[in-house]
Amino acid sequence: MEYLVYGKTGLEISRLCFGAGHLNHTCDSYESGGQLMLKALDEGITFWDTAEGYGSQPHLGEAVCQIRREEVVIQTKTSAKDYKGAAASIKKALRELQSEYLDVLLLHGISSPEDLATREREGALDAFREAKAAGEVHSIGCSTHIYTGPVMDAVIHHPEIDVILTTANKEGRMLEGGPFARHLEYIQRAYELGKGISIMKVIVAGKIPEADRPEWIEWGFDLETAHAINLGITDYPHITLDVGLARASARKRLIQRKAA
Ligand SMILES: NC(=O)c1ccc[n+]([C@@H]2O[C@H](COP(=O)([O-])OP(=O)(O)OC[C@H]3O[C@@H](n4cnc5c(N)ncnc54)[C@H](OP(=O)(O)O)[C@@H]3O)[C@@H](O)[C@H]2O)c1
Repeated sequence: MEYLVYGKTGLEISRLCFGAGHLNHTCDSYESGGQLMLKALDEGITFWDTAEGYGSQPHLGEAVCQIRREEVVIQTKTSAKDYKGAAASIKKALRELQSEYLDVLLLHGISSPEDLATREREGALDAFREAKAAGEVHSIGCSTHIYTGPVMDAVIHHPEIDVILTTANKEGRMLEGGPFARHLEYIQRAYELGKGISIMKVIVAGKIPEADRPEWIEWGFDLETAHAINLGITDYPHITLDVGLARASARKRLIQRKAA
């Protein structure tokens, strides 16, 4: 497994990120979800992504209370669009994750430049700032779901957004708002500015046929400008496949660096 620094956040993450967005589909209890997270940690996946809206923060919390907190980096999100909602969401995340702090907190699903600039989102950011000052949040960012073009422009140039979770896959599927080649340029620009970059939809939310998935996942690991490859793991065979591909990529990148 490769470990690297998540842009200017300074946080050390595993390149393979456990995306817990689909965990509810296969884990019918918090305990079984927690067991899956602990297995992922055993295999070296130290970067975990969740959100209030996924309902999987309690699953992660089940694992967190059985380990040392600093063993993992947890990124969560809130869709709250005002101060009050975001402040409540932060408290809920801390409680459900059984943690005294959140490593990364994202505004969930920025859908337009206007969305980012609303007075309400500014209120949510106020709650983020307060939590950061209180030591409850380490780093701040946003996810952009499937949007590129003006949305990427807006989030890249926001001075307080240090992390971007965006869509990227082998054929640029699911992207809206601009061409794929241009999206890769946006990602590169964000990376060069020191933003922490995570990519999602790498296997198009599971729509890629099973036989082709390794190739699509490898494409993700080959993207030099992505710090983290976020895969929506839901069971043990996914961990085996994804960790195998992450390790192969780490070996390849090490050889390339030595040769350079
Ligand atoms: N706006 C946002 O912030 C946002 C939006 C979407 C996702 N996310 C994050 O990104 C993560 C990834 O979600 P995604 O929508 O981008 O999906 P994805 O990773 O492209 O695909 C995940 C789906 O693929 C299937 N799958 C098959 N083989 C797999 C393997 N080896 N590893 C992982 N999954 C495999 C799983 O479905 P089966 O269970 O049916 O096999 C899973 O539900 C989510 O978990 C979440 O953390 C964030």
